[in-house]
Amino acid sequence: MTQDVVPVALGARSYEVRIGTGLIDRAGAEIAPLLRKRRVAVVTDDTVGPLHLERLRAGLGDVEMVSLTLPAGESTKGWPEFTRTCEWLLAQKVERKDIVIAFGGGVIGDLVGFAAAVLRRGVRFVQIPTTLLAQVDSSVGGKTGINAPQGKNLIGAFHQPSLVLADIGILDSLPPRDFLAGYGEVVKYGLLGDAAFYDWLEKNAPAMARGDTAARHHAVKRSVEMKAEIVARDETEEGDRALLNLGHTFCHALESATGYSDRLLHGEGVAIGCVMAFELSQRLGLCSQELASRLRAHLRAMGTKVDLADIAGDLPDADTLIGLMAQDKKVLDGKLRFILARGIGQAFVTSEVPADVLRAQLTEALAAR
Ligand code: GLY
Repeated sequence: MTQDVVPVALGARSYEVRIGTGLIDRAGAEIAPLLRKRRVAVVTDDTVGPLHLERLRAGLGDVEMVSLTLPAGESTKGWPEFTRTCEWLLAQKVERKDIVIAFGGGVIGDLVGFAAAVLRRGVRFVQIPTTLLAQVDSSVGGKTGINAPQGKNLIGAFHQPSLVLADIGILDSLPPRDFLAGYGEVVKYGLLGDAAFYDWLEKNAPAMARGDTAARHHAVKRSVEMKAEIVARDETEEGDRALLNLGHTFCHALESATGYSDRLLHGEGVAIGCVMAFELSQRLGLCSQELASRLRAHLRAMGTKVDLADIAGDLPDADTLIGLMAQDKKVLDGKLRFILARGIGQAFVTSEVPADVLRAQLTEALAAR
């Protein structure tokens, strides 16, 4: 059985991302060195819990497990379920040196990580991500938080996990739509900084989608390596870490416009946003038309969402979408910041996007629906 370990080098806050198959079945042995008491508090959701919680309990062996199951879905990532989680952790008498486990996708990882960040001014936590999106992105790097009515992830903290266990086998239970949504975050890594990985994905991602474990393992490992390297350079997003937000300025506005609902999953919005970022780059003369077309063709072949036309129901007009972008955390001195690209693997951060070019792009994309 192959297992890879990707270190996230952050001095005293360093940790490992372990990638392999069957990690859940030996979770007790993996986590044991971190434990002072043989007891963990696990928070999951009502999709993952019924499928995998008993398996995790068995994998923890003689480590006692208490658990809380929250409703699945983005609407969980707000104050009510956050309050419930903090109060449950306190009721379980979780102490500073104890371990809380986030067992689920991005919503659970972000919410539980934030609860761990503020509980008793900070307790340790372990991420066991169960979706492709969470394995390649949200479980690594310590961004934690919840959504506000004003926008996504606007309330939160940087709080690094003590360990991440990415069990590739658990991806077998993901519905195809969720797997493809996670793929939006995988393709992002190739696009932002590794053209060879993007080429590899064009060839191998269809096999990944069909369930090829070795291909999935490689894609998760390469994505995590890239993320770990960027996070180690820029933990709190003073610079380069913003590259990880390729496609996200568009995505966050679209998610807000669709009410964080099933109409658009986060990773689907990232895929659409990456295409829009390459189109915007092309409109600004930074890269050729061929690149956006190549990306669009690849994502179409994968069967994920590619264009605004793929989002069901009404969308607001271009100015409203631009207004939603203004809540983006990357806004600096009131100016929107975008991740654009000069080529595949050559992304950069800029505030220099003329409003009329952006408005024209969005207006045309909306008209094409
Ligand atoms: N998901 C983007 C980041 O972690 O910085």
